[in-house]
Amino acid sequence: MAPPPASAGFFRLDRELLCDGVPLADIASGAGTPVYVYSAALLRERYRAVDDAFAGYPHAVHYALKANSTLAVARLLRELGSSADANSVWEIDVARRAGFDPSQIVFTGVGKTAAELECAVALGVKAINVESAGELARVDAIAQRIGRPARVAVRLNPDIDAKSHPHISTGLKINKFGVPLDDARELFATLKGRRALSLVAVHVHVGSQITSLDPLRRAAAIAADISLELRGQGLPLEYVDLGGGLGVSYDRGEVPAVADYIAALVAEVRRTRLPIVVEPGRVIAAPAGVLLARVIDVKPRSASSEFAILDAGMTELLRPALYGAFHAIEPVSTAAAGDRHYELVGPVCESSDVVGRDRMLPRLAEGDLVAIRDAGAYGSVMASNYNRRPLPAEVLVDNGEWRIVRRRQTIDDQLSLET
Ligand SMILES: Cc1ncc(COP(=O)(O)O)c(C=O)c1O
Repeated sequence: MAPPPASAGFFRLDRELLCDGVPLADIASGAGTPVYVYSAALLRERYRAVDDAFAGYPHAVHYALKANSTLAVARLLRELGSSADANSVWEIDVARRAGFDPSQIVFTGVGKTAAELECAVALGVKAINVESAGELARVDAIAQRIGRPARVAVRLNPDIDAKSHPHISTGLKINKFGVPLDDARELFATLKGRRALSLVAVHVHVGSQITSLDPLRRAAAIAADISLELRGQGLPLEYVDLGGGLGVSYDRGEVPAVADYIAALVAEVRRTRLPIVVEPGRVIAAPAGVLLARVIDVKPRSASSEFAILDAGMTELLRPALYGAFHAIEPVSTAAAGDRHYELVGPVCESSDVVGRDRMLPRLAEGDLVAIRDAGAYGSVMASNYNRRPLPAEVLVDNGEWRIVRRRQTIDDQLSLET
């Protein structure tokens, strides 16, 4: 067996970029490109940073599967003691296959179908986080019909600006998520008449990639206030669910430390004496993954700039095209930075298929390997078959060894669904 990694995650030895001590170039040669590569050591480190930060305060970390639900990743987190946040019945299925018990799963999502709700009620998940009065009535009706009481949390919309990208801000009144504060009291008042439901928590989640603690702190304060009010009315809550949302530093700029984030949540909620549930996704998974791609072609763009055309683009990593998101990109086998100007683009027939705009790198040539950093969250889960491109392979590096945890899709896999 190879020696254990010198340090967790992605780092350079001489000029080579490694993952947990394994050269990324070896993985690309063995698994092909494009390929996602995850560091088990970093996933563990990131999970523990969240879990340990509670420093004895009662809590449960429900890893948000929407960030990365590859079975091997979900299993690894479950083995560390994580619980799960599932956003569809299919994510619940993955959670179950990864070994999570229904009592460890919260079911979130703004548009759960009747079939999904029935599955969650029948399984007896820890909570269905309901998003509207209509959904609450539907859960109640299902619970009565199948004779199984349902545990619910109510997602509040606290009308807080998370100041992240508009596409991933969820806590403003104009966003589709949750029950507006003005309507919440009326909705809570109906709960006493709903015998098949037990209200276990108040839930807030105001957005993703949030880089200031203020909105997260304010949302926690509102959840704590309402929880105290409800308890005062005789509704025995079990915990407060504060969602996820903490951002990561894609561009190496400052972001709040995980420990400060959790300390801020605990400071707001302590007065309720209720345990805290958090649903982090990005902060655990994003830095633990890279997308490896090869340069297919290099061609002139302007007098001082070139296009580097990669074999990965918006079909493998949608975030840059979808949100204009920034991911650091570096060559795998030469220096990380250089003095040549590139526009790194994918092979898809869309001009929005740009992976990295305006980058200074060492000279790139056909066949060179590049690593697109911080791609462990909202990467492979958003991949598509546009242009009939196959879903990429995924590799997990653990204890100095790598293995394919999801094989590359084939065209036969795709066509097996068609007649
Ligand atoms: C309800 C809910 N919980 C948790 C998350 C995970 O968020 P993040 O990956 O930003 O931690 C999301 C994602 O937006 C979400 O919608």
